[in-house]
Amino acid sequence: MQDQSKPVVAITTQLIEPAMDKLRTTCNLNIIENYSSPQELVEKAQGCEVLIVSLSDAIGEEVIGPLSAPQTSSLKLICNYAVGYNNIDIESATRHGVMVTNTPGVLTEATADIAFTLILSASRRLREGEKMVRDGNFHGWHPTMLLGRELFGSTLGIFGMGRIGSAVARRAAAFGMNIQYHNRKPVKDSPHQWVDFDTLISSSDFIAICAPSTPETRHRFTLDTFNHMKRTAVLVNVGRGEIIREKDLAEALEKGYIFAAGLDVYEFEPEVEPALLERDNVVLLPHLGSATDTTRMAMAQLCIDAITSVYHQGLIPSNCVN
Ligand code: DGY
Repeated sequence: MQDQSKPVVAITTQLIEPAMDKLRTTCNLNIIENYSSPQELVEKAQGCEVLIVSLSDAIGEEVIGPLSAPQTSSLKLICNYAVGYNNIDIESATRHGVMVTNTPGVLTEATADIAFTLILSASRRLREGEKMVRDGNFHGWHPTMLLGRELFGSTLGIFGMGRIGSAVARRAAAFGMNIQYHNRKPVKDSPHQWVDFDTLISSSDFIAICAPSTPETRHRFTLDTFNHMKRTAVLVNVGRGEIIREKDLAEALEKGYIFAAGLDVYEFEPEVEPALLERDNVVLLPHLGSATDTTRMAMAQLCIDAITSVYHQGLIPSNCVN
């Protein structure tokens, strides 16, 4: 029996248990995991007023149209359980009067930690060192063994100086790095130096991609870009995979255009370019940016707050993106 005072919410993935508990008390919850097509999602989510989705769900017109059609149901809100929302056709949602929310702010620090994890592990060759020890190939300290790149005194170039980029910059300052960044426009009141894209790639020792996926950022890093970077440079990506043309990165790493890379996101996620899997000088993580229990709970709370704003207070959620 549904509680008429609560909205019907369809969710495509299991969140951590305390979040599921909270959702169950706030909504009539319909869990739809592992659907095989947009049509199946539409069928199973029929009648929902809210859809909670993850970044792996591609939510386009074929889902939004039927679920928001007045004669069939009343989808009014899509909560994306992520800060990046390139998986959702925002234009379609807006056209159908469906609000879309994301989870800004709460995953900034966790994601910046992962950016730094990648910077440190790629530059200091953690993968190779770990493997050497586990394989029984560590036969004692040697002056030329696994030499990496030093952070102190180097220049970090941040591509995308938003919340996450700024949090990466704070960490970098503590490591004694000089910081420069590239955004479309200089960020007002930023203590760091804005540089044009060509300067960013040619003069940085480390580059951290912290930008969202947009038509402008897609494939911004190609073989030609890598060829203009320092041969000693380390590149990491915690933004979105499509910003890098992954095949080109594999080629650049193979040809020694750059020293190393670290990725948390992939162009065709969850697929990873096979040539990258072969390489020692790239650290590959399975999209762990926001993966701490504190952050994942805070992300869920933002979804619950959005539902409460819309259904109990009649307000537009503060994190509505359209
Ligand atoms: C997001 O929420 O967009 C992040 O990529 C999660 O790690």
